Amino acid sequence: MHTVDAHGASIPAIGLGTWTLKGREAQAMTETAIETGYRHIDTARMYANEESVGAGIAAAGLARDELFVTTKVWHSDLRAADLRRSLDASLSDLGLDQVDLFLIHWPNADIPLSETIEAMNTARAEGLTRHIGVSNFPSALLKQAVGLSEAPLVANQVENHPYLDQRKVHAACREYGIAMVSYCPLFRGGPIFSERPVADAARRTGKTPGQVVLRWHVQQEGVVAIPRTTKPERLKENIDLFDFELTGDEMEAISALRGRGKRVCDFDFSPEWDS
Ligand SMILES: NC(=O)c1ccc[n+]([C@@H]2O[C@H](COP(=O)([O-])OP(=O)(O)OC[C@H]3O[C@@H](n4cnc5c(N)ncnc54)[C@H](OP(=O)(O)O)[C@@H]3O)[C@@H](O)[C@H]2O)c1
Repeated sequence: MHTVDAHGASIPAIGLGTWTLKGREAQAMTETAIETGYRHIDTARMYANEESVGAGIAAAGLARDELFVTTKVWHSDLRAADLRRSLDASLSDLGLDQVDLFLIHWPNADIPLSETIEAMNTARAEGLTRHIGVSNFPSALLKQAVGLSEAPLVANQVENHPYLDQRKVHAACREYGIAMVSYCPLFRGGPIFSERPVADAARRTGKTPGQVVLRWHVQQEGVVAIPRTTKPERLKENIDLFDFELTGDEMEAISALRGRGKRVCDFDFSPEWDS
């Protein structure tokens, strides 16, 4: 199992993203992913699928300590009491006593970060989550969060793929010993797969373009990726990344696509991004 280690958390380098998976599909994909070898599942209160994801986890029947489960609290629930209610509901729906990682899904400038971070620490101290972290935190906000937290933050989950320049956030994560978890790692599929450096590396290695892009993520220091698929046959493809390497030139050529600067997830409540 390839992991990224951060302040005592051992995070499997590939996780199953579950946004948009619902009901029976979310349950079946979670169960099949675990059977395929996934040991990391990413959900969130906002995805409204925790009950199904939890049913998939239960059906797979793996020992609890072999699975790394992440959930998140939505940005409207960052007051201490709301955060606690949200986490309690997540645990109840997932059918778990504890998650491995609990994240602030998005920052909220209208709620003091100190209150939210304190509530995260309380949840950790009470054993409701093993580790805490953030998501969608640009580097300046990450620095604030790190300064406010008693327990170490172990992850910052951010949009990351070859079309986006995330060098500043990645550098900040490394500075604080935090894992950078790439969401939308495949840019939702499509155009990225026919980019020349991706297609060339796929040809040379005999891997698929999707595998090349995912390998580009996990070959970088401290980076985890959480691709989503609705197709059981792609589960294996997306985790089968550890029997080949991209050359330094291939890594650089793929990284050079960052000039396109495209974001998938940008909303009116987004913070001010690094780039
Ligand atoms: N923290 C946040 O704010 C945040 C925001 C967005 C996402 N996330 C998390 O990140 C996860 C992943 O992001 P995402 O779902 O937006 O995008 P993604 O993983 O980049 O892309 C998913 C899309 O790529 C396709 N795909 C998957 N594997 C493929 C392969 N090997 N070859 C070709 N196409 C492939 C899937 O289609 P098929 O279904 O047809 O395979 C799906 O349409 C989410 O599910 C969620 O858990 C977090």
